[in-house]
Amino acid sequence: MKPLLPFYNPSISYEDNYNQGPFGLFAQLDKVEQVQTKPSKFLNREVNLPFGMPAGPLLNANYIRAAFAYGFDLCVYKTVRTKPQKCHPLPNVLSVHPQGKLSCNLDTVLADTNYSQPLSITNSFGVPSFSPDIWQPDMEKAVKAAGKGQCVIGSFQGTKGNGEIEKDYALAAKLVRETNAPILEANLSCPNEGASKLLCFDVDRVERIVNEVKTAVPDRPLILKLAYFPEDEKIISLLTRVGSIIDGLSTINTLSAKPVDAKGHPALGENRPEGGVCGDAIRWAGLDMVGRLAKYRQQMQLEFAIIGVGGVSNVDHYRQFLKTGADAVMSATAAMWNPLLAIEIKKNL
Ligand SMILES: Cc1cc2nc3c(=O)[nH]c(=O)nc-3n(C[C@H](O)[C@H](O)[C@H](O)COP(=O)(O)O)c2cc1C
Repeated sequence: MKPLLPFYNPSISYEDNYNQGPFGLFAQLDKVEQVQTKPSKFLNREVNLPFGMPAGPLLNANYIRAAFAYGFDLCVYKTVRTKPQKCHPLPNVLSVHPQGKLSCNLDTVLADTNYSQPLSITNSFGVPSFSPDIWQPDMEKAVKAAGKGQCVIGSFQGTKGNGEIEKDYALAAKLVRETNAPILEANLSCPNEGASKLLCFDVDRVERIVNEVKTAVPDRPLILKLAYFPEDEKIISLLTRVGSIIDGLSTINTLSAKPVDAKGHPALGENRPEGGVCGDAIRWAGLDMVGRLAKYRQQMQLEFAIIGVGGVSNVDHYRQFLKTGADAVMSATAAMWNPLLAIEIKKNL
């Protein structure tokens, strides 16, 4: 079978993808096959299928419109900030070739432009954002693009150096709420200022952020985007503090690794020795995290929804995540290279 063109072109800049994309099939929205499914519920909303795309690949309303047309019923609008932030220079995406599954101990992996299956990539963007006066009207358009049984989730994060980070998260949430996004998602799998490497591991700060966001936007469900937690104690501590306040947990984000070229040099450039890896090689970690969250959700009698993310590229993976305890499933890497993924899953259920 001829490989499909990705809807995001890794060889051109983020800005060019933003302005010219989406590409491939996502640029052709007439005559897309529609597959009916039995509707289900996600966070009290009716959805055609609790499947979609997590924060990242859907850069703006043009991408979201295409994803909805191709049957991705839950679409997360790429993480936005309260102030503009430039994207890292190219390369932002490279194919990586780990031997089997990637560990969570900063493995060194070969990276190049040979995008072969099973596909894993490194992505290194630095969570770019336009200013709110650009992304707010665009997110509003994306929200309106949802058809019956479809929904936009607005992802946001606070930025270090914009005053107290908790307040910046709350302001970002308020700005997202103004676009009428029906569900909010706080990206907490980003670097932290304090002792913990990632913000989501800093439970005190997470609790403060959740309280600030819930005070700023009390009338929208709040999902937290989490990285992979190696230790159960951290999961228990997070759930003890915020498990009854939040509405959902989406996990996982990428696993960090050291991508190198064939000569062993940092493939993303000397000043970026590390990059996040996603796709096939991290599915084990997504499933593991979902399974542990589901276990503690039951033990602690909590009710948040779980969104399973990580290396989903076919209907078996979709089923595996649901069986492990996810209420919804999302795919980024595989969906970027296979815009027909949601249609294929719906046909093979
Ligand atoms: C191109 C790209 C950009 C991403 N940007 C974001 C982002 O802005 N915010 C976020 O929370 N996650 C981001 N992610 C992480 C994805 O949401 C997802 O958690 C991760 O890719 C694992 O899923 P996958 O294995 O299906 O790719 C990005 C992923 C990709 C591939």
